[in-house]
Amino acid sequence: TGDPRLVVISNRVAVPKARGAAGAQGGLAGALHAALKDRKGLWFGWSGEESESGRTGHIDTQTSDGVTTATLDLSQRDIDEYYNGYANSTLWPLFHDRLDLAEYERETAKGYERVNERFAELGAPLIDAEDIVWVHDYHLIPLGERLRSRGLKNRIGFFLHIPWPATRMFVSLPYHERLVRTLLFYDVVGFQTQEWLESFLHYCENELRAEVDKASGTVTFEGRTTIARAYPIGIDWEHFSKLGENGEARQAQQRLISSTRRRIAMIGVDRLDYSKGIPERIDGIGRFFDKNPESIRDLVFIQIAPPSREDVGSYQEIRAALEQKCGQINGARSEVDMVPIRYVNRGYSHAELFGFFRGAKIGLVTPLRDGMNLVAKEYVAAQDPEDPGVLILSRFAGAAAQLKDAVLVNPHSPDDIAHAIRIALDMPLDERKRRYEKMIATVRDDNVQNWTRDFLRDLSEA
Ligand code: G6P
Repeated sequence: TGDPRLVVISNRVAVPKARGAAGAQGGLAGALHAALKDRKGLWFGWSGEESESGRTGHIDTQTSDGVTTATLDLSQRDIDEYYNGYANSTLWPLFHDRLDLAEYERETAKGYERVNERFAELGAPLIDAEDIVWVHDYHLIPLGERLRSRGLKNRIGFFLHIPWPATRMFVSLPYHERLVRTLLFYDVVGFQTQEWLESFLHYCENELRAEVDKASGTVTFEGRTTIARAYPIGIDWEHFSKLGENGEARQAQQRLISSTRRRIAMIGVDRLDYSKGIPERIDGIGRFFDKNPESIRDLVFIQIAPPSREDVGSYQEIRAALEQKCGQINGARSEVDMVPIRYVNRGYSHAELFGFFRGAKIGLVTPLRDGMNLVAKEYVAAQDPEDPGVLILSRFAGAAAQLKDAVLVNPHSPDDIAHAIRIALDMPLDERKRRYEKMIATVRDDNVQNWTRDFLRDLSEA
């Protein structure tokens, strides 16, 4: 009979017309596309569009590249309250330890519940009795419980792509208990790292007073048992590692090298988000130039930062702050024939990013908090094994638990970043190779196909 059909549900869906700008869409959409393309499955979520009046309830279906997507539009009010509001002004900052940015509004909390109910109403009819259902990320935490209340008996799993905060932070959320209770309606709940899993179990044990079995990774509450485990997500190794043979990638690498001439290129690629630590990274680079003024003509830093969630105030502020900082450093340090920082507000295809990563001798991935961070893994995967570049990685990214051979830094400290750049520039070839070989083994083996396999195995055995 073969495997049951997989139905993936997430807020963001890589619909064919929006694909391509890999850096802009974030890790989730790329990973889910990879997870789905080898199996016949369905991907249900938001179109990213506002519904025209009278068209609410319409589902747009497309099939391309072996993946069928079914998307709904949302009203302006839904987008404001659910997406810009509760998901991205409450949960996102709170889960990234930014209590200072988290807004707690009753109205947006209600909008979040309403849109989750809408996903259940429109999604349930798309799901057959034999399907296996996999819900993704913080936008849709209550969805499993909503689907159950419509009588669905399917296996339903949930994966959180972002960190789970420490209990002392999480309890600042009004109705925190309600959110966790809905999570325990899933058969399996997955996290990126052991650390986030432990925070979650800590809450279940100490606040909810659920029965937690750490050895088997289960939480039992009100007669139901949920499996809770860590499943670190990876890249689509099969696809990504082959991009080096691609003409587009070679051209991009060439373009980068010829435009930087004899200078050493350092690169950062992030959605323009305060969790990514981009202004802090620029400060670290500024500090490096302060300490090594003779290096200014030898280095160039390229920051690719496609704008994200532009209707949210904190994102407008981070963008303005970053632009001011780049302008300041470039104003102070440029010459008529040389600019130290290239700041770019657009996304590029995976092939182009591969070429840029390969052409850059240093990759800077310095988020203040990050669930995993697949840019770190892509940077490693794009290196030339005979002459690999150096990855500078924040210890606060989930990826740091796996990529221990990166140069790990505290992203809050400009001195630490400046020091890491010095280490990277001075690192001899044999050490670069040694670190690369350890990292590439993890990137290759903990890939997105294995992540999918491990999660779905637990879900079908649950
Ligand atoms: C992060 C989140 C994803 C999200 C992505 C892009 O990776 O975990 O759920 O899709 O950012 O953000 P956006 O708001 O554009 O979907």
